[in-house]
Amino acid sequence: MDASSNSETSQDTLYDDIKSFFDSAPPLKDGPDIRGVAGSRIVCVTSGGTTVPLERRCVRYIDNFSSGHRGAASTEYFLKAGYSVIFLNRRGTCQPFCRSLPQDPLLECFEVSKELNVQVRQSHSEVVKRAIGEHCTAVEEGLLLKIPFTTIFEYLQILQLIGMSMKDHGRRAMFYLAAAVSDFYVPWQSMVEHKIQSASGPLDMRLVQAPKMLSVLRKNWAPTAFCISFKLETDSEILLAKADMALKRYNMHAVVANELLTRKEEVIVVTSNEKISVHRGKTEAEADADVESPLIKLLVEKHSAYIGDSDS
Ligand code: PMT
Repeated sequence: MDASSNSETSQDTLYDDIKSFFDSAPPLKDGPDIRGVAGSRIVCVTSGGTTVPLERRCVRYIDNFSSGHRGAASTEYFLKAGYSVIFLNRRGTCQPFCRSLPQDPLLECFEVSKELNVQVRQSHSEVVKRAIGEHCTAVEEGLLLKIPFTTIFEYLQILQLIGMSMKDHGRRAMFYLAAAVSDFYVPWQSMVEHKIQSASGPLDMRLVQAPKMLSVLRKNWAPTAFCISFKLETDSEILLAKADMALKRYNMHAVVANELLTRKEEVIVVTSNEKISVHRGKTEAEADADVESPLIKLLVEKHSAYIGDSDS
């Protein structure tokens, strides 16, 4: 068998795996409607981790780590840069404009007066005003659409729908895939209905490999969009090699490489001809106090060059 037929076979296997994933997935309750999203440049930011349910009436699940901070912060910087954002986010994770609020905003930011009126505490009034103001403006102007997911089934079905509806935006569309997506899952048809009983002894369960959708996103769903994926590792020795591999294998325009412990301080943007290290500012006061600030600036420049290439 020659190299080209080998790669055709693995391509066929991938398409079979993808088909069986979608065929077996429980249908979405509501499909997303992105028609209301305005603006000439549009980015889909994915954020948070997907879960893998172990039972149909789910009591137990496997989770993928992600606080959602990267996605929420990046969304704010994309909005500042003039993009419309579809924020595909894990329910309960960090949300745009909420990063400077305390852990429990309702209980910590508000108080009840003697007349039983609810009011914002003086100490929090500036952050609350800013968060609500910026969030409302973005939503009301059709610049921010938030779509929640929990399971890998929901995430990948919604990503496919968004991908296909972004086709019309051509090169002005971008995917920024910061979500931590499960690599293994239990197919719906082989999943038990009821809570697994611990009295039955040790749990012996087979997980199937989740198909990587990055190549179909690039090839079929949104072939002209600018696509950025992420590579997370805990071992710095293998990080760049893995990012390079993902760049080539999935034909991404850039891969953002990050290490778990230093992900808030530094990321490395890997493209076909460079590796650019991006750092956050040293002090809170600096404009690039979040690493997402210089990161989004760099990616917006690269996206502009990509759009420009097609104009010339
Ligand atoms: O949310 P925070 O706490 O701020 O942390 C941010 C982050 C560390 C989660 C983020 O910066 C990050 O690195 N996200 C990607 C983590 C990840 O799952 O990496 P991966 O090597 O497993 O996957 C690489 C890429 O393939 C990802 O873009 C993912 O969306 C995609 N993927 C993964 C599995 C799968 N079955 N299909 C996919 O398409």
